[in-house]
Amino acid sequence: MDNSKYIIGIESSCDETAAAIVRNGRELVAASLATSIAVQREFGGVVPELASRAQLELILPVIEECLEKAQLQAEDIAAIAVTQGPGLIGSLLVGLTAAKALAFAWSKPLIGIHHLAGHVAANYLKYPDLEPPFLALIVSGGHSHLVLVHDYTDYELLAASRDDAVGEVYDKLARELGLAYPGGPVLDRLAAQGEARFNLPEASFTDSYDFSFSGLKTACLELYQKELRQKGSVQAVSDEFKADLAASFQSTVVSTLIERTAEVLEAYQLKKLVLAGGVAANQGLRKAAQERFSERYELYIPPLQFCTDNAAMIAAQAYYHYLEADFKELSLNAQNRLDLPRKKASSGCEA
Ligand code: KG4
Ligand code: ZN
Repeated sequence: MDNSKYIIGIESSCDETAAAIVRNGRELVAASLATSIAVQREFGGVVPELASRAQLELILPVIEECLEKAQLQAEDIAAIAVTQGPGLIGSLLVGLTAAKALAFAWSKPLIGIHHLAGHVAANYLKYPDLEPPFLALIVSGGHSHLVLVHDYTDYELLAASRDDAVGEVYDKLARELGLAYPGGPVLDRLAAQGEARFNLPEASFTDSYDFSFSGLKTACLELYQKELRQKGSVQAVSDEFKADLAASFQSTVVSTLIERTAEVLEAYQLKKLVLAGGVAANQGLRKAAQERFSERYELYIPPLQFCTDNAAMIAAQAYYHYLEADFKELSLNAQNRLDLPRKKASSGCEA
């Protein structure tokens, strides 16, 4: 008998509109993705109202294309999964409403997925043998978390950024330097051409493993403003200066992330480390993690296509909720802030 469970996942938490079908939480069957990044780029960042309007235009074609690619019928699908939060409320609502409509029309169970749990699950698609427990470094446009993944649906937040998220700082710095949105990949490429010659502040706390990136952001912006004043115009600031600033910024970010992760791995006696989220696409971070952790730990880094927002990660994570029959009512609401599910303790963790 074929035990295949095909789950369709829908992701619409920010400026990507995505649908994907995954078999048994591990095998990607089909995916379709559209993005309004080009629109957001004109404004140098995400404009929530424009993002949700684009979601509305894209959601049905994206779902249709995904089903077409998979060559599956409604009766082949076991459940409909959707990102419930955190994210932009208007964008989330579009995916959630589409998912509810499908669940109702096809009489299938509805599964609500935490966006960050989805990012972690991106790794399940690449590594069929990866199983919790493990430590996840989740770094995206909205979050910088160290999370102890006790089980597929049980998370404990160990550290978070007290101010800006890493991806957010990449995007803000890039915008200030006149570079395209999203800033992460652009600064990442620029950093590879520069020399990390500026000394920048690296924040740490004595009483926790938390991150803080706003001091670093301010220091970078001040260096750029000073150069701008000296050179007299934006055009007069050399590409070399920008590359050196990008390299200095990136090496500080990477060093902070790696150091804090190393401390937590040690303190909690963990053996497996998983990277997740859009910033896990960063070449500097991937390389540094390999160098620092691959010998002593089992290191899992998602393929580039599954680092940034996608729906395959949502469908992958949903399989484990399916196994627990963790289904939602059609009254399910989207949440712009949402705790990662915590089973053992009474309180969840704020995301
Ligand atoms: O996970 P994601 O697609 O969306 C959120 O959940 O936020 O992450 C997007 C973030 C953006 O801030 C983007 O600039 C950053 O990930 N990013 C990168 C790279 N690629 C994407 N940051 C640094 N280096 C990269 N190569
Ligand atoms: Zn994301």
